[in-house]
Amino acid sequence: MSMWLSCRTLPFRLAVAGAMLGAAAPATAQDQLHVTSPDGRNEVTVVIRGGRIHYSLQRDDRAVIQPSRLGFEFRNEPPLGDRMRVASTATNSVDETWTQSWGEVREVRDQHNELRISLAEEGAPGRQLVVVFRVFNDGVGFRYELPEQPGLAEFEITGELTEFVMADDARAWWIPAFQRPRYEHLFRSSPVSTLDTVQTPLTMEFRDGLHVVIHEADLVDYAGLTLVGSRERNRTLRAYLAPWADGVKVRGRTPFQTPWRTIQLADDAAGLSPSVLGLNLNPPNALDDVSWIRPMKYVGIWWGMHIGTMTWSSGPKHGATTANTKKYIDFAAENGFGGVLVEGWNVGWDGSWIENGDLFSFTEPYADYDLPALAAYARDRHVGLIGHHETSMGIENYEGQLEAGFDLFEGLGIRAVKTGYVGDETSHGHAHHGQYMVRHWRKVIESAARHRIMLDVHEPIHDTGERRTFPNMMTREGARGQEFNAWAGDGGNPPEHETILFFTRMLAGPMDFTPGVFDLLIKSVTGTPRTPEESRVRTTLAKQLALYVVLYSPLQMAADLPENYENQPAFQFIRDVEVDWGKTRVLDGKIGEYVVVARQERDGDDWFVGAISDEEARTLEVPLWFLPLGRSYVAEIYADGPGAHWRDNPFPVKISTRPVDARSRLTLRLAPGGGQAIRIRPLN
Ligand code: NOJ
Repeated sequence: MSMWLSCRTLPFRLAVAGAMLGAAAPATAQDQLHVTSPDGRNEVTVVIRGGRIHYSLQRDDRAVIQPSRLGFEFRNEPPLGDRMRVASTATNSVDETWTQSWGEVREVRDQHNELRISLAEEGAPGRQLVVVFRVFNDGVGFRYELPEQPGLAEFEITGELTEFVMADDARAWWIPAFQRPRYEHLFRSSPVSTLDTVQTPLTMEFRDGLHVVIHEADLVDYAGLTLVGSRERNRTLRAYLAPWADGVKVRGRTPFQTPWRTIQLADDAAGLSPSVLGLNLNPPNALDDVSWIRPMKYVGIWWGMHIGTMTWSSGPKHGATTANTKKYIDFAAENGFGGVLVEGWNVGWDGSWIENGDLFSFTEPYADYDLPALAAYARDRHVGLIGHHETSMGIENYEGQLEAGFDLFEGLGIRAVKTGYVGDETSHGHAHHGQYMVRHWRKVIESAARHRIMLDVHEPIHDTGERRTFPNMMTREGARGQEFNAWAGDGGNPPEHETILFFTRMLAGPMDFTPGVFDLLIKSVTGTPRTPEESRVRTTLAKQLALYVVLYSPLQMAADLPENYENQPAFQFIRDVEVDWGKTRVLDGKIGEYVVVARQERDGDDWFVGAISDEEARTLEVPLWFLPLGRSYVAEIYADGPGAHWRDNPFPVKISTRPVDARSRLTLRLAPGGGQAIRIRPLN
């Protein structure tokens, strides 16, 4: 114990047969290697036992991950990771701060200690493997490297042996993997020991309150990660990679590196967000000029298709007509929106578009849609059209037209495109999140960047921090968004949904959730409000406003039909709210119950607060400690009005103002399924 304590301040330790050596010393089969976080709280230990590599993780001297295997299985090659010895080690420490192009916070501190362990296989074929650990105050990332070597050139990975043996049978919030549709499931929670195959980020709460999130970062040319629970070994999660059609997981050639496997740590739920661990593990911005990348709010010809008042296809209800688009552009210009999304503008939607991904044209507009004239009409009003590319997973068809499609939009000055991937696998049977698709998405991001186009990807793969390197990769869906509230027969999202999203899906990155539906009972369709049993929005109106602050996206939609915002005083909040932030402070929260977030606009002094609740009514005390001392502000408060309840009285919103400063406390009263949105602006 005394030796342990005496070493706690050293970031790197290598113990051989009980003695302490320098970090880069050669090691034997019994070696233990240690690397700690800069604050000394998190420690990774790597042990080679019987030739097998294991890592474990402790925080404050208590186990988080128990010894867990590392390694690979290949097609036509023996597994790698069974007969290893440490050949050499190297260490590095970093402490630097970088600036995001846009985001939840302007400045990100990258402070970590790194340990690189080069391993050599005993006996033939004598392959080499490198494992790199980076230990931060907010968690750990580790990745594999396969150096160029005579014994391993081209390879096919059939399994990644990475394990996460959780030290506690923690409560996990999960959605299933490999079940239709993709990531669009309601979250459930249960102990780790009960999990089957689940998606990441996987958020877990230990019984002592520690929160742990497993995910991945910097996914470039590999298969997407999922986790599978072990039937034989309780609390053990194994990496399970999405396959190619022939079952192979990853095709590669040395030199090669995998994405980072990330383990985020926080003492409580509020400490999980904003999550920057994955961003720190991605390469810096690769674009020279980012002046054309601008976060914005947008409206669109979209909700009408989901509730059934318009169609994507041609015909009498076609939404993407020249006249209708002009109406939306006028509305955007009058209310300060930067963009107008238009879906259903291009040939290919007639018939069963979900089945006919190979029939979409990405250059030919429908006859009643005058694309060049509309692009000019929008430009004259300082609004941008947002283009749309639905692929229905017809990937070959899309890739064949990708350049032409982006050329067309770029030529018209269109700066943002929403893409879509409805479907669960490609027509050749490759998994939606497998290496084939990962390569595709990277190709689209790079091509869009060359054409100075920002992306909003629907039915995406999970976010692994691509936005740091390619800040044109703005936002994505990747969970059940607002649209699930529109579809008759689905049942919609329950009131707790967004209070879970904040602590799970949102830790990966921005989400195009599309908040701001004011016709909560979807009366626009038949004139009759939908009943609580039918699909409809299961929040109060004030909660729709709060979602703009809570669910971060640099492209943030006002989803409803323009006519539903007429004569609505609460619409002022959507006009005012920012979409790019300098600071984010999570003030309080509990997964699946409630969350309160404060964010400061990036280029100004306004703060915005969003609070949301599940199906319970709540009163929350919120001290405004985050405001600078000595300055006076006005709080513009949009609260649930008297008697508000998501189920039968969702509309009352009480709008009030009051002077506040850093010493003020606000008492937030949230209705069942309710919320509160506040703009805090300096008095002068
Ligand atoms: C599903 C997307 O989530 C939705 O936003 C879009 O309107 C449809 N696909 C059609 O592309």
